[in-house]
Amino acid sequence: MSEQKRLDLAGIGCGSRTRTYMKLAMEMPDKYRIVAAADPVPVRTEAVRDFAPESERADVKMFASADEILAQPKLADVAIIGTQDDYHFEPCKKALELGYNVLLEKPISKTLREALILRDLTNELNRRVAVCHVLRYTPFYRTLKKIIESGEIGEIMTFNANEGVGAWHFAHSFVRGHWGNSKTSTPMIVAKCCHDMDILYWLMGRKCVSVASFGELSFFTKATLNEARPDRCVDWTTPVGEDPYDARKYATAEDAKRWLGMVYDRYETASEDEIYEWLKTSPWGRDAMQCDNDQPDHQVSIMKFEGGLTGTFTMTAFEEGRHIEIYGTKGKIRAGVFYKNNGPGEISVTPHFGGETRVVELEDSDAGYQGHGGGDWGLMCALYDDMLNVPVEKMTTSIQDSAHSHVMAFATEHARRTGQVVDLAEFERLVLSGNLSY
Ligand SMILES: NC(=O)c1ccc[n+]([C@@H]2O[C@H](COP(=O)([O-])OP(=O)(O)OC[C@H]3O[C@@H](n4cnc5c(N)ncnc54)[C@H](O)[C@@H]3O)[C@@H](O)[C@H]2O)c1
Repeated sequence: MSEQKRLDLAGIGCGSRTRTYMKLAMEMPDKYRIVAAADPVPVRTEAVRDFAPESERADVKMFASADEILAQPKLADVAIIGTQDDYHFEPCKKALELGYNVLLEKPISKTLREALILRDLTNELNRRVAVCHVLRYTPFYRTLKKIIESGEIGEIMTFNANEGVGAWHFAHSFVRGHWGNSKTSTPMIVAKCCHDMDILYWLMGRKCVSVASFGELSFFTKATLNEARPDRCVDWTTPVGEDPYDARKYATAEDAKRWLGMVYDRYETASEDEIYEWLKTSPWGRDAMQCDNDQPDHQVSIMKFEGGLTGTFTMTAFEEGRHIEIYGTKGKIRAGVFYKNNGPGEISVTPHFGGETRVVELEDSDAGYQGHGGGDWGLMCALYDDMLNVPVEKMTTSIQDSAHSHVMAFATEHARRTGQVVDLAEFERLVLSGNLSY
């Protein structure tokens, strides 16, 4: 019997995300092979190379940048693009033109116009681009989708969805971190909530047609401080952790150290003193009330979908985890962290007009909606068939599909900024034609 084809992978931008995917790929060595890695930081390309089985490591080609690897002829079947938000468009465009299929980190690009251009280029060149909307691969959302499709709650009329980013996570990523400033990354509703837009679009099984939104940055600002204090936490004289957002906790508190691993290459071996030293110059050492952040720490959106279905979505820094209520003509679903912690269960279905509430078991109870629970693994399991075997329209998170959730997210930002109700089809037309800048 002939061996199945292995999918050759090249990592472009070998930071936290690409390394996660590469490591998972090597748990399926019959499906995937690492053949190249590009990143200006050598320990990161080396880390990718070292995921490969020892016998294949010497063959992994290493490059110092996206430009360098993309100056070569095509080296792999799939380029995994995990550079930062403002550098997805150029490497993705180049990779498509060279003949690669692409696993592209979200957001598709920093601007919606570029995202739509990449979608159209993918179609034109007949390539495949899978976007890392990892929630679609989690057992939690897959279970929800199955319940909806079974017809148990009838026709969906409305939903309320909530994403609690978590206060420390918000400060780490959307105040101090890569996505604190929308001008150098993307607006919060894109940077974080393109996942939510995408999952709502997928669960509802129809397009969003219009949106309104309100949201502000209210807490993570200098105005919150009662008195002046140094803008680096290492210069504070107060006991460590007295202020809940104290950056010195990266060196001392286990739950904060978890986040350190995503941004500090030496987190596993560094001493407390070395971490303190790093905090003196690192963005993550800054006082969370004195950064250059501009992302709203709370935002609410109201959406109308095809067929008149309506929904609300709330993003807040001040809650942990996602939850959703979906109301249909025959019953309702309540699901998420809140219901897991407070009952009746992680996912439950209650029929109208009497009848028992049914608590639904997930196929894999360790996975779900927290972090990417199960999503990264599910994505790598599906990627092989999505790239090689299924028709493009059956791919789990194709760029063709993901482009709509990006239109939802950018249109929501436009609604927040202007206070207007935004028609999505019109918004997409204006952006694609260059008459509106997003
Ligand atoms: N799917 C998800 O759930 C999810 C979660 C977190 C982040 N992300 C997205 O993934 C992307 C990467 O995030 P991350 O946390 O891995 O960031 P990261 O900063 O850890 O990784 C980015 C890497 O790109 C490298 N790089 C910079 N310039 C380069 C160049 N010219 N050529 C090649 N490499 C270059 C950097 O050295 C770095 O290693 C971002 O767009 C982010 O929004 C997605």
